[in-house]
Amino acid sequence: MDPLSVLLRWAHILAAITALGGLLFSRFAVVPTADELGGETADKIHAGVRRRWLPWVIGAITLLLASGLTNYILMIRRVKAAPELWGPDWMGQTGYHALFGIKFLLAMIVFYLASGLVGRGAGTQWIRNARKQWLSVTIGLGVAIVLISGWMRNLHTGANDLPDPVRQYAKTYLEDIEATNAGGSGDPDDDAGPRGGRPSRVAPPPAEPASGPAASPASEETPDGQETEEADRSAPAEDRQAPETPGGGKAAAG
Ligand code: HEM
Repeated sequence: MDPLSVLLRWAHILAAITALGGLLFSRFAVVPTADELGGETADKIHAGVRRRWLPWVIGAITLLLASGLTNYILMIRRVKAAPELWGPDWMGQTGYHALFGIKFLLAMIVFYLASGLVGRGAGTQWIRNARKQWLSVTIGLGVAIVLISGWMRNLHTGANDLPDPVRQYAKTYLEDIEATNAGGSGDPDDDAGPRGGRPSRVAPPPAEPASGPAASPASEETPDGQETEEADRSAPAEDRQAPETPGGGKAAAG
């Protein structure tokens, strides 16, 4: 597991919850209560909420921007670093870039409205003059952003499943191992053929058949570039350690 990714995810989700939760609470609890009380009391409630909530809004926007942009850059790097897993134009083909663009634009509108709702400047007074309506609009846009984000995430993690390139890789990886165990030619040129668009990384079988668990282990690479023990290959298919996927999960054996 990549600690930076987990930290960024925590920061992003917590900030999103704070921003959206605050908007919902204002729209459906604070503003109706202030409206009921009316007059000077309502003004005092709005002034008190504004003063106390402003630092949270600024903090949430800063965290969302910092973690979101870093996430995006890391994602682009990850895809570019392994074209054999993701294909030549995964970002374009899946619409990831386009979805990010739409999300970013909506997020900027949400940040502007959310700041105006807790601001004091004359330039954003029109937002506070119709608090309820603009709160509803901002919440609607926030929900749209969460839906788009879930969609973006689903493009590369699947619904608790593996992304297609990784499933394909795992399948051909295991097929190669089975072919090797069944007595393949051992000719390294056999590995050059495209199987699902990737070169096989399975080493030719040892000259002497491995006997028992004491057989000397040679290392080989998994799809994410980590080394595994070759001794694992002598285990039954269901006991073999599956390669790790780019999303951090384990590829299913078979
Ligand atoms: C109101 C503002 C925002 C909300 C409510 C929001 C919400 C979310 C949520 C719920 C996720 C999914 C998190 C997960 O499952 O790990 C997410 C992911 C993400 N967000 Fe945001 N976000 C906002 C603003 C931003 C901004 C400003 C940026 C970029 C500058 C950004 C970039 C990203 C990226 C790159 C991901 C990862 C998507 C993926 O998994 O491929 N977000 N966001």
